[in-house]
Parts: sequence; structure tokens; C-alpha cells
Amino acid sequence: MIKSPRGTRDLLPPDTALWNFVEAAVREVFQAYNFHEIRTPIFESTELFARGVGEDTDIVSKEMFTWEDRGRAESDKGQSLTLRPENTAGVVRAYIEHKLWDRGLSKLFYIGPQFRRERPQKGRYRQFYQIGAEVIGPAAAGSQSPARDAEILELLATLLDRVGIVNWKLELNSVGCPADRAQFNEALRQALAPVVATMCADCQRRAVTNPLRVFDCKVPEDQPIIETFPTISQFLDEACRTHYEEVKNILNAVQIPYVENNRLVRGLDYYTRTAFEFTHGALGAQNAILGGGRYDGLSEALGGPAAPGIGFAIGEDRLVLSLTTSAESVVRKPDVYIAPLGAGMNREAARLARELRRHDLVVDLGDDSFRLKKSFEAADKMAGRYILIVGENEVKADAFAIKHLASGEQVTVPRAELAQWFLRKK
Ligand code: HAM
Repeated sequence: MIKSPRGTRDLLPPDTALWNFVEAAVREVFQAYNFHEIRTPIFESTELFARGVGEDTDIVSKEMFTWEDRGRAESDKGQSLTLRPENTAGVVRAYIEHKLWDRGLSKLFYIGPQFRRERPQKGRYRQFYQIGAEVIGPAAAGSQSPARDAEILELLATLLDRVGIVNWKLELNSVGCPADRAQFNEALRQALAPVVATMCADCQRRAVTNPLRVFDCKVPEDQPIIETFPTISQFLDEACRTHYEEVKNILNAVQIPYVENNRLVRGLDYYTRTAFEFTHGALGAQNAILGGGRYDGLSEALGGPAAPGIGFAIGEDRLVLSLTTSAESVVRKPDVYIAPLGAGMNREAARLARELRRHDLVVDLGDDSFRLKKSFEAADKMAGRYILIVGENEVKADAFAIKHLASGEQVTVPRAELAQWFLRKK
């Protein structure tokens, strides 16, 4: 048997109803905040992620699905391509490519699959789905304002409440600007020097290439050492400190609860100033339901103009795992199951189904080779509400027997009144 590749899964009904419920709700929330959808390719040139996300991050150094293009055209040959491990770099690439700065502030959202070669476990997959948003634009359009950071965080609180996720926790930090980071990295180098030999191989590499990334370390033995290291909060300059304070002031004003975590640096290199994660207890080890932050230098790092930005991505798989709503409760069951009885009734059943579906009723239908008992079983199995019987007598009388499956009650309704009758019963 051929199975789906490791770390990927099939999403089947009725679970897909839950995914659609989430996506419909988030689309409404995005609309209320004046965000518009962007769709970028699922693969991009590898260089985009190396430059955007950062060579020393776990994502780029270990987890990407990368291949060399075998295209016949000279321009394709040897080009290194990668399945997107995240979508911020792609959105900023599109921002630059299409000169979106002409439009002022871009408020964009996306929903789609991402790919990382991670060790699969609950809440962690190799193909997973993100619901994300990015606010990016020239500083003159207000893209750098702490009001944007607070708006994003307030949107997230609304969105989680809207889909029925309670008990989330917002962890907040400021990772400063590149000048702060240079000083912080220097302080980290000094703190690492006497202890790095006792740490894991990844940390030994990070100590040389990008000391900040030691905070990504998950090795239990290294944690007590990392606990003793300085934190970025001690190195924030005046402007970053003021920005951070204002974000917190607005959050207090709109009553969004948060906890500060000065060790939160996020696993991607592009972050500046605000960084955040929302966690949820139901998720176990992979408890980050979403993450995001500001990336004021990303556009320039990718060869574009100055374009400060902030965004987030929700792990949709994890969001669905945290829901208390069941798939059964959001799936639309058939309002009516049409049972053609006896030879030649399929045509009549099809006409009736077409008519009722025009009225936005959910209709399914059987086959005239079924006995009545089999039709009832089929209707029961799909949890239909009513069964409508189409036999020769009904067709002659132009009125049809309708039976309520749960109670067994039966009525006869003239053809012309059928749709209205079912709509009244919805
Ligand atoms: P990230 O923290 O790498 O950030 O991913 C965001 C969320 O995607 C995580 O919090 C998690 O819920 C989900 N996620 C990540 N990896 C997996 C996986 N292997 N399986 C299931 N879910 C996963 C970003 O991707 C940034 N682009 C977010 C952002 C947007 N920052 C600014 N704008």
C-alpha cells in the first residue's frame, strides 16, 4: 500500500468542515480589519529564504525541501528551488516585485500550506498550514507605528475568541534593532566563551555564526546554562524601548492580557523590535499556536526599498487541534434525502433535487433500484432530516410523501409547495 509521505496527512470529512469553519471565520475577521488576500507560489528560489529567514536558522540550515530545477531552458537549469517553509519572505518578495509601496500601507493575509522537514509529532507536520497576515509599507504610511503592532495583536485576540479558543497566553518581547543586536551578540559571545565547550554541537556552531540563535536550543542539559545568559531587553536603545512601551500601553488600553518573556527571540532572523507568540495548554510540547513580529529591515535585505512591516502566522493544524467545537457540529447535514421508488423514477427524483437545491437546501438522492428500507438506511447514515418518497402514485398526484426521520411523522406536500415547506423546517 502506498501511504502519504512521513509528516503529511490527508484531511478527511467531517474534519475538513472544521477547517472550513475556521477559514470562513478568519476571512470575516480579516475583512473587518481591512486586510486583503495575497496568494504567492508554493515554491520560491532558495536564495529568498537564505537571505530572508537567515542561513543560521534551523529552518534554513536543516528543514527545507530544496531541489535543483531540471528545466530544459537555459534560464531554469540548475536553479535552486525550495518549497516555502514560511510565507513572510514570499510576501515581501511580492511586495518588492509588484512595487506595492505605490498603494500606501499593504494589509495582506494568506491561508496555505508550508513545508518543513521536522521530526513529526502531535502538532508538528512536514506539510502544515498557516493563516498569516503582513502589514508592510513605507514609513510615511505609518508602517512603523506601534499602533500597527497593537492592532495586529488585538486582531489576533479577536480572531481566537471568534473561533472559540479560550485560555490562550500572549508572550511578548522586543528584540530591538540591528545596533542593539550587535551589542547583545557581543555580550552573548563573552558569556558563551567559558561554557560553550560543554554545550551541544548546534550551540557550538551558533556561538561562532550567530550567538542569538542559542536561544533556539531545545537540548535539556543546555537550558540551565542559557538561563544565565544576558537578555536582549538589557540592550534596547531609547527608540526601541519607547516603541515597546507604547505597544504595551495600547494593549493595556484595549485590555489584551500579555506576559513579557525577555528570552523570546523567535526562530527566524528577520525580526526587529516586537516579537510575540500565543501559546495554548491543550497542545502539549508544540504549544505555540502562532508567532510573529516586526521585520523593519526585511525588504531592504531582499533588495527592496525601506518598508517596515509586522505580521504573524497561525499554525492552522494547531488551531484546529485546540478547538473544542466538534466537526460534527459544524458540518451541514442533508435537509432531505430523495428516495425514488421503482422503475423510471430517477428522472423525477433528479428534477426534484435540482429544484430544491436551487433554494440552498442540502439534498442527496438515492437510486430507483433501492428498496424503501435501503433508502431509509442510506438517509439515516448521512444523518438526513427528512426523506422524500418519489413513487408512481406521488408523481401522478403531483404531491409527495415526506417523512421526518427522527420522529417518523409523515405528511404529504404538493410539488409547488415543497421548497417552501423545507425552508420553513430549517
Ligand atoms: P513560525 O513561528 O516559524 O513563524 O511559524 C508560525 C506558526 O506556524 C507556529 O507558531 C506554529 O503554530 C506553526 N508551525 C510552524 N512549524 C510547524 C510545523 N512543522 N507543523 C505544524 N505547525 C507549525 C513564521 O512562520 C513567520 N513567517 C510568522 C510571521 C509572519 N512573522 C511575521 N510575519
